[in-house]
Amino acid sequence: MDNNRVIIFDTTLRDGEQSPGASMNLEEKVKIALVLEEMGVDVIEAGFPIASNGDFEAVHAVAKAVRNATIAGLARATKGDISRCAEAVKAAPRHRIHTFLSTSPLHMKHKLQMEPEAVLEKVKESVAFARSLVEDVEWSAEDGSRTEHDFLCRCVEAAIDAGARTINIPDTVGYAVPDEYAALIAMLVNRVPNIDKAILSVHCHNDLGLAVANSLAAVGAGARQIECTVNGLGERAGNAAMEEIVMALRTRPDRMPFTTGIKTEHITRASRLVSGITGFVVQPNKAIVGKNAFAHESGIHQDGMLKCAQTYEIMTPESVGLNRSTLVMGKHSGRAAFKSKLKDLGYELGDNAIEDAFVRFKELADRKKDVFDEDIIALVDEAVHRDNDRIRLKSLEVLCGTRHNPPKAELELEIDGETRSVKAVGDGPVDAIFNAIKALVPHETRLQLYQVHAVTQGTDAQAEVTVRLEEDGKTVNGQGADTDTMVASARAYVNALNKLFVKRQKTAPDARAG
Ligand code: KIV
Ligand code: ZN
Repeated sequence: MDNNRVIIFDTTLRDGEQSPGASMNLEEKVKIALVLEEMGVDVIEAGFPIASNGDFEAVHAVAKAVRNATIAGLARATKGDISRCAEAVKAAPRHRIHTFLSTSPLHMKHKLQMEPEAVLEKVKESVAFARSLVEDVEWSAEDGSRTEHDFLCRCVEAAIDAGARTINIPDTVGYAVPDEYAALIAMLVNRVPNIDKAILSVHCHNDLGLAVANSLAAVGAGARQIECTVNGLGERAGNAAMEEIVMALRTRPDRMPFTTGIKTEHITRASRLVSGITGFVVQPNKAIVGKNAFAHESGIHQDGMLKCAQTYEIMTPESVGLNRSTLVMGKHSGRAAFKSKLKDLGYELGDNAIEDAFVRFKELADRKKDVFDEDIIALVDEAVHRDNDRIRLKSLEVLCGTRHNPPKAELELEIDGETRSVKAVGDGPVDAIFNAIKALVPHETRLQLYQVHAVTQGTDAQAEVTVRLEEDGKTVNGQGADTDTMVASARAYVNALNKLFVKRQKTAPDARAG
């Protein structure tokens, strides 16, 4: 492989999912994995198979669906974890076991309660065992950036001797700064005798906002794999954001002469998909994928842009898949135009799904004069994978206003094929709707998030609602989109309940990684 090619290892489905509340179900993980594969991600870390049956099944489903990218699963340094991981990833033509163990004095003493020599032994054993099951093994020194150099060198050398092809040095707690982290990578390149037999990888957390800077500095020092996530999702402050890394490399080859295999035009779609599924809204001023990342507000900037776009634009919106002309279709648009629009937006849907989406598009176009790309994306993203839903919203009427009567909701749901209706009141119209749903589908969950976001501008914009429910420490995110915010709210709640039912069937012991 070209010596300057950087491997992009995406961990949105594993470390990303470890963000509290960012849970994704099996279908959603497969959907994200397929988008990542299409955009050219080299390695997709699909989950932590030992964590629960649901995690195992999701990794397995991703491994079955993805053909080109390598599918990795995470495993602690135990035979049980490693065997389960091998089982989960093996359906993928290219698969990897990613096993890890803490190496810093702090982690060894307090977390592992093990002496360094015992840790070293365990590194050898776990990597050799993983290697007896699969060809492609990655070993991570958890809290690597706070590990003593001599000990880190010994562990890395031992892991390579035991068969690891990739050595990852995580900045687990986001403590490193760029020159220090680059020096650590350079130290390993210079001191570990068998380092040429492995790819050095970096995995940076963003606690000090330095994850991307640290990752890029490490590449300058010899690392050739970067672990990252879409939108920078991840534990605590998140991981290094893939879109920022990839666009920095693409925009500044003069300073960083490295390439990736990412088709950057897919970035916006991946970002929207992950944000929609997790309910983690991207901040407007977020680099590359924020709503304002390519917006020019001030008169001086707009004037400069009109004269020559490069005055204020270092990369084009098109290069990240953002269309400048977003006004697209209306109620007179036909099936063929709709199909071609879906294709332009990157959707490959089957005939039935296209037909469903087209019916919903026509309904929307009847209510909304201008239908934008964002509307179509919201409509399609909301519609897919709902065939197996046990609960469906049939109708909703809400009464609210400035009078003293409490808001009322009259709701009709189809539950397991049977239509049932109810009336309920609440502290506000949304509360009344949620009370009505609870009356028809009794459940004990905690509402963790209710979030509304307008898909486009204008008072006839579609509202995209996210509802996050929590039950026994497990969370689900439901989404709903409609020009009527109350209908979107009901849809989102019903969607969350449908996901909860699926999750309940798959609940098993939990084990989370760093
Ligand atoms: O942050 C970390 O150290 C990790 C490892 C398990 C790779 O996520
Ligand atoms: Zn991590």
